[in-house]
Amino acid sequence: MNLHVSPAATVSGSIEVPGDKSISHRAAIFGALAQGTTRVSNFLRAGDTLGTLAILRELGATIRLPDNPAEALEIEGNGFDDLHTPQSTLDCGNSGTTTRLMMGVLAGQSFCSTLGGDASLSRRPMDRVQIPLSQMGADIRGEGERCTPPITIRGGDLHSIEYAMPVASAQVKSAILLAGLRAQGTTTIIEPAPSRDHTERMLRGFGVEVQTQNDHVSVRGGQTLYATDVSVPGDISSATFFFVAAALRPGWEVTVRGVGVNPTRTGVLDVLRAMNAEVLLSNGRESGGEALADVTIRGRTLQATEIGGALIPRLVDELPVLALLATQAQGTTLIRDAGEMRVKESDRIAVITRELSKLGARIEEQPDGMIIYGPTKLTGTIVSSPKGDHRIAMTLAIAGLIAEGETTIENADAVTSSFPNFADLLEQIRK
Ligand code: S3P
Repeated sequence: MNLHVSPAATVSGSIEVPGDKSISHRAAIFGALAQGTTRVSNFLRAGDTLGTLAILRELGATIRLPDNPAEALEIEGNGFDDLHTPQSTLDCGNSGTTTRLMMGVLAGQSFCSTLGGDASLSRRPMDRVQIPLSQMGADIRGEGERCTPPITIRGGDLHSIEYAMPVASAQVKSAILLAGLRAQGTTTIIEPAPSRDHTERMLRGFGVEVQTQNDHVSVRGGQTLYATDVSVPGDISSATFFFVAAALRPGWEVTVRGVGVNPTRTGVLDVLRAMNAEVLLSNGRESGGEALADVTIRGRTLQATEIGGALIPRLVDELPVLALLATQAQGTTLIRDAGEMRVKESDRIAVITRELSKLGARIEEQPDGMIIYGPTKLTGTIVSSPKGDHRIAMTLAIAGLIAEGETTIENADAVTSSFPNFADLLEQIRK
């Protein structure tokens, strides 16, 4: 599917975005592992998270997804031991989070299972999870040197490990914590930089003791999860497309209501401030251990910035659209330490450099990031999102708001994996 975007005269509005993808995956998985009935409100109904539900059903969980999205998703679990042998390959579609978190769950199951997915997922490295889970005693096999899907897992009796993660990754941390719950002893993970901590927060909500101290996260094996109610905040990664839309021109303004503002996810707000956009948080509140707020962004003359170091894991999914923003800033923006971008749904450093350049941006690709020269005038043309990379498609659509003439984005159907109503909201704020 192609998406056509015409330039905006102005951008304004107050919107809500769908539920957080990371939190939705975790709520579904933990609900299936818990004793009792878990209710999840504002669950993200998108390709990636619906795929996780299908896998949990295949493993024997009873899940009710009401037709009315205003009603809560209900998951009946009966503990880790109640999962059944799946009849076929578990289809993770386009979702790295599903694959890696389910590897952690299945590592503790004595049956054999296989996780597969689409062409994009089949290129993504799973050795980062396979290595620690194998050290814990699971037998995990994938394709080639980087252990790409399909992944076959024969789990069993696990023992605890202390593991220093080579990359800051919440997916890897979560997989090890889930396996750690089935292991003998206490499993400890040492993070090179803080990554999103939704797993730690939500496990506590399910009655599990999780210790966090400085860069160490530990969990004792053998603990039971007890069902609870989870209310999913709006996804800050989805909201970022509209934050950037507002920040592109002085005087443009967007409010996104009910956004999750967990500090491990708010790197984008720090960058918007550093680039001189106005950032206002109001109506701050807490739900289920996660902070929420209404976030208003107002455009002002933008300044270039440097994005690197410990900031990267706090905004890793936001980097493509922040690269777009940097094309409109005064000066040279440097994105560094972001080699992880190359192993997302596509090689986002190569793809964003190529596609924004087609629109007239001046970007240089670096091994671990990009150098972006601004401000540059963008001109609409035909651009293409790699199949299965939702965030590239949405970034290019936001670029269309300021490009002269029409911008056509090929393969825009990828947005359904995280943000099915993206195009409707874009029309709502484009005036
Ligand atoms: C996620 C963690 C991040 C992020 C992904 C979701 C999660 O990946 O890019 O979209 O839900 O844990 P990494 O853990 O690989 O950094």
